[in-house]
Amino acid sequence: MDNFVVFGNPVSHSKSPRIHQLFAEQTGIDHRYGSRCAPLEGFAAAFHHFVSEGGAGANVTVPFKQDAWQLANVLSDRAAIAGAVNTLKRLPDGRILGDNTDGVGLLSDLQRLSMICHGDRILLVGAGGAARGVIQPLLDAGAQITVVNRTRARAEELAALFAASGRVKVRDIGQVADSRIDLIINATSSGIQGEVPSLPAGLITPAVRCYDMFYGRQSTPFLDWCRKQGATQCADGLGMLVGQAAHAFQVWHGILPETAVAIATLKAEMCE
Ligand code: ATR
Repeated sequence: MDNFVVFGNPVSHSKSPRIHQLFAEQTGIDHRYGSRCAPLEGFAAAFHHFVSEGGAGANVTVPFKQDAWQLANVLSDRAAIAGAVNTLKRLPDGRILGDNTDGVGLLSDLQRLSMICHGDRILLVGAGGAARGVIQPLLDAGAQITVVNRTRARAEELAALFAASGRVKVRDIGQVADSRIDLIINATSSGIQGEVPSLPAGLITPAVRCYDMFYGRQSTPFLDWCRKQGATQCADGLGMLVGQAAHAFQVWHGILPETAVAIATLKAEMCE
């Protein structure tokens, strides 16, 4: 039986082992999937040790996604663009493939929820690694993207990576008050501190779809704020988490699991 783990620090909260157990049951592919807390300065050593024990692949979460990007011998196109790796796979010749399924995980969740349409004007809030990982799949889905960030310079740096597309622009937070947007995506880590990124009132109307890449047991601070502004179509990032896991499963096993049942199961378990 092939062995997989998720690396992180901390990692005990990770839902990946449970999600992959659900996928194994659904597909009949029996893999073993655990979690490992790597030392902050010791990701590469921990991963190579895992491979020496016969490990076939791994997921990588905070704070090791860039370490994993550096460690990989071969990068998928989407990982190269994202500048980060969340999925590693030992290839038959011993080289390590680095892939990034976060962006496609978000896109597949937006499609599952019918929250994205070709030509959408998307306001992407945040300019860290989470934002960088999702821009290319959103462009591939035909979106026009405006990036806003607390620190504008980081948004400029991020948009410059996608300048060739001509469809990623940067605005000051204060400049977007009257913008017409179809979908707003929170890619900031503000929810971890229970905060909401500062955004102008009037931005959200009932027609604006709102997605938070963050998730929690209850609604998130960002989605609470959106609802107060009148939003009616809101979703948190639990579906993205399951979506990225499904695409990692596909990288390892060649089969894309169905996500809706796993999302419903996790939601129910989180409420217990
Ligand atoms: P990651 O790479 O994992 O996404 P990061 O590089 O720390 O993490 O980026 C976090 C993002 O959340 C950034 O866009 C950050 O804004 P700054 O670039 O101005 O730091 C944003 N962020 C974090 N806390 C925030 C808050 N309370 N309000 C608004 N934006 C916040």
